[in-house]
Amino acid sequence: MVNGKLSAGFKKGLEDVIAGESKICKVDGKRGRLYYRGYSIEDLSTNCTFEEVTYLLLEGKLPNRKELARFTKELSSMRNLPKYVVEILEEVAHRTTPMEALRTAVSSLAGGDKDVEGITTDYHLAQGKSMVAKFATIVAYYHRINNKMEIVKPDPSLGHAANFLYMVTGKRPSEIEAMAMDQDLVLHAEHSFNASTFAARITVSTLSDMYSAMTTGIGVLKGPLHGGASEAVMRQLQAIGSVEKVEPYVKDALSKHRRMMGIGHRVYKVYDPRARILKKTAERFSKATGDMKWYNIADKIERVMFREKKLYPNVDFFSSIIYNGLGLPLELDSPIFAISRVSGWSAHALEQYGDNRLIRPLDYYTGPIDLKFIPIDERK
Ligand code: SDX
Repeated sequence: MVNGKLSAGFKKGLEDVIAGESKICKVDGKRGRLYYRGYSIEDLSTNCTFEEVTYLLLEGKLPNRKELARFTKELSSMRNLPKYVVEILEEVAHRTTPMEALRTAVSSLAGGDKDVEGITTDYHLAQGKSMVAKFATIVAYYHRINNKMEIVKPDPSLGHAANFLYMVTGKRPSEIEAMAMDQDLVLHAEHSFNASTFAARITVSTLSDMYSAMTTGIGVLKGPLHGGASEAVMRQLQAIGSVEKVEPYVKDALSKHRRMMGIGHRVYKVYDPRARILKKTAERFSKATGDMKWYNIADKIERVMFREKKLYPNVDFFSSIIYNGLGLPLELDSPIFAISRVSGWSAHALEQYGDNRLIRPLDYYTGPIDLKFIPIDERK
């Protein structure tokens, strides 16, 4: 091992390794540019709803007005959960975190689908749409059950983002609130071969089913080095508590090799374009709610981390401030990432099914070999 990198010219964590071909998303880490199916994230996050972007990811093209209306209606018709899934949530909500409850509930959805093992694109596309629709309901229901509140059934007259806020808070959101939520879902929807997406592709590459692939995605996204960072950011802001305490907190963290959550990225070596957009929304939102505290602390962390480590915020860094402004509980921050990313996972699953080869890399073996076997009674 040389500096944590295996001497076979091998980089740990598949860093910079191209592991497959895809037409879904271009992440340009050097220039800080991001494209879904060729459209820039700036154009998409300014002009499109989450439903429109999900259609783009799944179908490979932007919908016309008629296609979008049909797709939006289809998604909203799939929001309700089978009774047995609600019962499972009632059983597990008080025992698990939201991400664990989401993982359990999504896995159980397979029980209600007689075509789980269906192998055509139509089956997989229908399953993907169903899960895009249902993830939001599962997370909202978890929250209401866990807080001993009556569940709020989906309102088909509301768009996906607005309906999620309604099911969580019980109040129909204002237009500004719905737009902020919608933009956040667009920005988290897809990001090429990130850990959870690649894991979902590996699942599909064995010809396993869509429910397994989405469950894999949730399990991988949960980690604090990935989607779990979203919740960890707000906890970090709360632990710091004031702008004055940022400098000593960050210096202490760096001295102890603790990571500042929401900062840094494996691919972006400049500002994450999503963070740039979310920062503006977080500032606008904080000004509108009159509470600049968290935004100012985050802004200071950003400056100190750039000065100390030349690192930039990533997509998770400002989202938690927006969720806080929307009245969403901190524990839902990471599940909201999953509510959005299920679109990207589904698109990649379809692409993998469509041109599949089992994903099975090699390892660089560094253990012993040809050891002399010792019968158990002769072992010390
Ligand atoms: C997401 O891949 C994707 O596309 C993911 C994602 C998506 O849309 O799917 O963009 C979503 O997961 C965003 C990342 C969320 N995670 C976090 O915010 C957790 C904090 N960030 C880090 O753990 C880290 O930046 C990673 C994991 C995101 C990337 O780490 P790398 O590429 O493995 O970099 P590294 O660990 O090799 O660090 C390189 C250097 C090290 O310094 P030295 O030890 O060499 O001196 O940078 C330092 C690290 O210590 N560093 C940090 C840091 N991130 C890197 N130091 C302090 N705080 C940090 N956050």
